[in-house]
Amino acid sequence: MTNRELELDPAALADRFPPGFDWGFAASAYQIEGAAAEDGRGRSVWDTFSRVPGAIADGETGDSACDHYHRFPEDVALMGRIGAKAYRFSVSWPRVQPEGTGEINERGLDFYDRLVDALLAAGIRPLVNLFHWDLPQALQDRGGFADPRAVGWFADYAALVAARLGDRVSDWMTFNEPAVFAFLGHADGIHAPGMRDWPIALRVADNQLRAHAAAGAGVRSLVKDARIGIAIDVNHVAPATDTDRDRRAAAAWSSARDAWFLDPLFGRGYPRLGLEAHGAAGHLLGVELTEPPAGDLDYLGLNYYRRDRVSAASDRAFDWEIGPGDATEQTQMGWEVAPDGLRDVLLTLHREYAPREIVVTENGAAYPDTVDADGRVRDDRRVAYLARHIGAAADALAAGVPLTGYDVWSLLDNYEWSFGYTRRFGLVHVDFADQRRTLKDSAIWYGRLIAAGR
Ligand code: FCB
Repeated sequence: MTNRELELDPAALADRFPPGFDWGFAASAYQIEGAAAEDGRGRSVWDTFSRVPGAIADGETGDSACDHYHRFPEDVALMGRIGAKAYRFSVSWPRVQPEGTGEINERGLDFYDRLVDALLAAGIRPLVNLFHWDLPQALQDRGGFADPRAVGWFADYAALVAARLGDRVSDWMTFNEPAVFAFLGHADGIHAPGMRDWPIALRVADNQLRAHAAAGAGVRSLVKDARIGIAIDVNHVAPATDTDRDRRAAAAWSSARDAWFLDPLFGRGYPRLGLEAHGAAGHLLGVELTEPPAGDLDYLGLNYYRRDRVSAASDRAFDWEIGPGDATEQTQMGWEVAPDGLRDVLLTLHREYAPREIVVTENGAAYPDTVDADGRVRDDRRVAYLARHIGAAADALAAGVPLTGYDVWSLLDNYEWSFGYTRRFGLVHVDFADQRRTLKDSAIWYGRLIAAGR
């Protein structure tokens, strides 16, 4: 075999992982469930935001998405066919508690009950993520996560889900990508709830960190042998050029964004460089920050996709351009493909924070896939992307990183937030006109890798 073939060979790759390694998939409620107005589900901030003119490509919403709410038995069966050992899904808060506090919607909880049972029957371990950005609109109307009461709202909601599913689920995640929810949703305005206010974004981030600690402790008290984690999105941050200015900007950005969550989670409070950058940019006006409680994590979830190059337009904080390097390989998202960055981020997290375990809780790529006349989806670029990133994960493992699992984003093509249905991340192709699912070549490849595993 040539080096290239060897790199893509699923059996050779599988060999580099220990027995019991957790190969899985990740997905989220709003992106796949649909059934937005069924069985008593309340409205979320994404139901509202997706209707703001111009906010979403083609004006699409998640009203129907992949209709997973009705088709979950088929989707679980597909994962079974691929051989997945784990599935990370999120609970839609407004589906189980329409107003965010108070009244509980039993029919919503029943759905997750049935989903968990179907997964267990298929031999797939469920990981329940409590928050993937679809905050009940009723809570947003009361101030959302910028309000300190959100800590209690979230802890109560977490407890009600844990009380219902905790007899069968031991893997829990409090938040997915708190930085994206806080910053893209409240400072950049490109995600729900669509605000552009940095002090609010930093209050949201602070309350999420506190809510993580409160909910995590609550779940632990209700669920025997619970494993509590959080998914932090850390891409490989690099200066765009080798100038001092770009190097300083890259360090400041990574502190103001990634370490902003990681440092407090590991008991160090907010990072100095990040505080300086946010302070200099005026983001802390009127914000009183005290040290949030540490995260008490059984595992750290890492969502990794790309390399971000930082170029400074001036010496002012946040006067930065962040994006892919020129003439680099990119996915349909315009994200720079950088498998070595995954290895480096894993090594850095291990060295800096020494989490007990790390799980890659998202990794994957969007390409404009089509079903060929013979019914196949030849997504070679996705196979190459996955193979190279899994290879990089194996390098990190060999260097001593306590990596225990890897979840592909995602099982199905789905609603990619502001990109609507224009970005396909699935290993299974979805025809959104008739909801037909077709395994892509990457699904077959991933299945071979899992089957070859020890
Ligand atoms: C991550 C999100 C996930 C999906 C992927 C492509 O940031 O957690 O919902 O949109 O990116």
